Amino acid sequence: MRAFALPLRGLTGLRTRLLLLLLLLLIPMSGLMYYGNLQEDRILERRTFEEVQRLAQHFADQQALFVDQTRYFLINLAHSEAVRRPTADCNEVLARHLREVGLYANLGLAAPDGRIVCSALPFAPGVTIADRQYFREALRSGGFAIGGYQIGRITGRATVNFGLPVRGADGSITGIVFAALSLDWLNRAVGATGLPDGSTLTVVDHNGRILVRHPDPERWVGKAYPDAPLVQAALAEGRGVARVRGIDGTTRLYGFVPIEEPAARALVIAVGIPVTSVFAEQHVIFGRTLAGVLGLSALLLFAAWLVVGRLVIQPVDALVRATERIRSGDYTARTGLERISGELGSVAAAFDLMAADLQRREAERERHTRQITRQLETITALYAGARQLTRSLDVDELAGAVARAYVEVFGADLAFVGEACADGSIRPTAVVPMPEPLPDDLVIRWDDPPEAAGPVTRATRIGRPVIVADLAAEPSVQPWLRHLRGVGAQSLGVFPLMSREAPVGVIVLLSRRSGFFATDRVELFEAYAHQAAAALTNARLHAETQRRLQRLDALRTVDLAITGSLDLRVTLDVLLEQVTRQLGVDAADVLLLQPQLQVLEFVAGRGFQSRALEGTRLRLGQGYAGRAALERRVVQVPDLRLADEEFARADLAAGEGFVTYAAAPLVAKGQVKGIMEVFHRAPLTPDAEWLGFLEALAGQAAIAVDNAALFEGLQRSNLELTLAYDTTLEGWSRALDLRDRETEGHTQRVVELTLRLARAMGLREEELVHVRRGALLHDIGKMGIPDSILHKPGPLTEAEWEIMRRHPVYAYDLLSPIAYLRPALDIPYCHHEKWDGTGYPRGLQGEQIPLAARIFAVVDVLDALTSDRPYRRAWSRERALAYIREQAGAHFDPAVVNAFFRLVDGEPATTS
Ligand code: C2E
Ligand code: SIN
Ligand code: SIN
Ligand code: FE
Ligand code: FE
Repeated sequence: MRAFALPLRGLTGLRTRLLLLLLLLLIPMSGLMYYGNLQEDRILERRTFEEVQRLAQHFADQQALFVDQTRYFLINLAHSEAVRRPTADCNEVLARHLREVGLYANLGLAAPDGRIVCSALPFAPGVTIADRQYFREALRSGGFAIGGYQIGRITGRATVNFGLPVRGADGSITGIVFAALSLDWLNRAVGATGLPDGSTLTVVDHNGRILVRHPDPERWVGKAYPDAPLVQAALAEGRGVARVRGIDGTTRLYGFVPIEEPAARALVIAVGIPVTSVFAEQHVIFGRTLAGVLGLSALLLFAAWLVVGRLVIQPVDALVRATERIRSGDYTARTGLERISGELGSVAAAFDLMAADLQRREAERERHTRQITRQLETITALYAGARQLTRSLDVDELAGAVARAYVEVFGADLAFVGEACADGSIRPTAVVPMPEPLPDDLVIRWDDPPEAAGPVTRATRIGRPVIVADLAAEPSVQPWLRHLRGVGAQSLGVFPLMSREAPVGVIVLLSRRSGFFATDRVELFEAYAHQAAAALTNARLHAETQRRLQRLDALRTVDLAITGSLDLRVTLDVLLEQVTRQLGVDAADVLLLQPQLQVLEFVAGRGFQSRALEGTRLRLGQGYAGRAALERRVVQVPDLRLADEEFARADLAAGEGFVTYAAAPLVAKGQVKGIMEVFHRAPLTPDAEWLGFLEALAGQAAIAVDNAALFEGLQRSNLELTLAYDTTLEGWSRALDLRDRETEGHTQRVVELTLRLARAMGLREEELVHVRRGALLHDIGKMGIPDSILHKPGPLTEAEWEIMRRHPVYAYDLLSPIAYLRPALDIPYCHHEKWDGTGYPRGLQGEQIPLAARIFAVVDVLDALTSDRPYRRAWSRERALAYIREQAGAHFDPAVVNAFFRLVDGEPATTS
């Protein structure tokens, strides 16, 4: 790309700049030269002006002389007799003068009226010159007058005429004599004067008509050019100089001089020299000087051009070309200017050094790029593999993903992933591709003794990969090879899976290429093995956590069952379900110890095919179960079929097909409550955790059993206590009746009727307990009323009433501290409140009064009225009932009264 080099050749190019510099010198120099030339032109012009004016003056002087001669001649003629008194020979005389003088074209005399009197040349009669200027001027001024160009009326030729008056004796003008001067003659005379070459002489009259012209008079004379610049200048100047265009179009330097002073009406003589001829020589000299200067400059420029090209531009071009090549990526480019000295040489040397540097760096960069590309590929592969590891938390699935990654992503031909078991063996978890099921006799261990250590043990021991580049030379892998013959493996790599320095498994890779396990690939495989180890450890931890969580959950479920149910059977069912599920066993049961008999009896079971075992009764110490209870420890039997000790219930368990057995004692508060047994129909190799969980469940079973026993005891003593209490209450109420002098059985009757009425009104059983107690104790407050009032035979005074009305409050004060009786307070406290609000102690109204009290009031009043009281005799039942009916809505709740009558109407009308 030469894009940036090209502008160098424009205005900013070295050569261009040189040229511009020279031009900068040349322009003022040429200006100076031109100015000098101009000065010289001016001098030349001034000299020429002087010359033309001198020539014009010279000619004017000659003409003036000639005019003077003509004046004198005419003066003489005017005085001649022939003219003063013209006679017949007047023409003759004039003709003679004409011939003698020889200068004029004609001589004549005109009368004052202009009529021709006589003429040297013959004339037609009647010819007049009255309109001629020379005639009229002479007549007016009375002196000599010169006319302009004219064509003579007698001569018929172009002439200039002169006139002079002729005076009579009295001095009056009697005529005008005139002389006609032929212009031909005049022009001829001028032609003889010898003007310089190229110069012209022109005489114009005041009308702008050309009288004389040299050269070429015949072309110009007689014609008027009043507007020609020359004519204008001549008539304006009178005397002077001017640079103007001539009537022939040629510009000349003119000198003007009038023939007669003052110039006003006279002729003006102009002598001109063409400008070209004046300055020609001068300009030729100037041109030569200029050409010389320019030529020299060009020569100088060319020399500079060559020198700059050689010393500057060529090296710069070389530099630019080298730069272009480097820009386009060719770092081998050099300037090739080693031999050049000076600044450019230094630049070139520096450039070459830089290029060498760039070349080196480029090589380095390429090396780095290749390295980075390789690393990127590794990272991409690792990333792809790592993604496989996030797919699952299942150990076997994960192992499969790892194996697949080694084959599909990393290019191994076969990948085997095995788990390192605690017993030193390797459990195969994944093989990709799976050629066929792994043979049973393929035993891989990670703890072989050193002398027999294969690659797996070696790799696990050092915690680093072990590579077998040539399988044929490794005897320990022969079993593998036998099995994997189809793979056609040449080389093998073992990558241990380590977690916190402990082996968790191995990855074995096989390849059909012997050089497959190159260093960088092994590094990649090892890196991925680290990731896989972490992921597998995670998955294992996750599975373990999951299992523990489930077991915790199971314990909680059992807990809930224990606290949520008082039925031991329900609790044990829940427990046994968790036992079989969480311990992974087929069946389980609980035998409880009967303390008095010291025998274990079946109470709950699960998972059994027959009900035979439900009849289990074992003495303490009898069989595995009896021993577990007696020795208070877990008894385990790995295989019942091989058990040397007799299984006490072999006959009972017959047909169940159990293999594994375990019994755990149920111990609560240091006492054996029974045992829990588990059965499995296949071999089990329980670990410590399993046993721990079995014991935990047995502990919970013990708690459940203990709880149930406790509850049973509590319930029994509670019942006994309640019975004792109520008996006491009845005793109290009888004592109260006695003090109140109530009829025998008053309270019992009132209680029974109240309960019936309450039940009829829909009160619930648990409320009736309290209604009953309340009714029994309804007048317990009367214990605070003195006998004098209580047993008074007559009506009570107001003061006595006041005391009597306190008895419900006394009841409240007496009973409310007893929590057991607090729910029964309604009746003792409120049985004297009335529906219409006129009762006591609080004056409650309507439904403000507790329903139990409203019910009781009806029953109590009925019984009081129909009993003998100290203060009156008993009423008849009819009267009492009438009273109650009457008090509905006043004393009593009408709804209760209604219910009461439905109840009493439905029974035999006998009084109790
Ligand atoms: P108590 O004798 O057990 O009477 C209970 C309620 O039955 C009385 O509440 C009253 O509502 C009704 N009752 C009983 N006898 C009669 C009666 O002859 N006529 C009417 N209309 N209703 C009757 P009360 O009136 O609040 O009395 C509460 C307690 O005060 C009575 O219990 C009794 O121990 C005592 N008492 C009431 N009146 C007298 C009286 O005149 N003399 C004496 N010594 N004691 C009286
Ligand atoms: C004329 O009047 O014809 C010309 C003037 C002159 O020649 O004086
Ligand atoms: C002549 O000389 O031809 C006569 C005078 C005149 O024409 O002015
Ligand atoms: Fe009462
Ligand atoms: Fe009573």
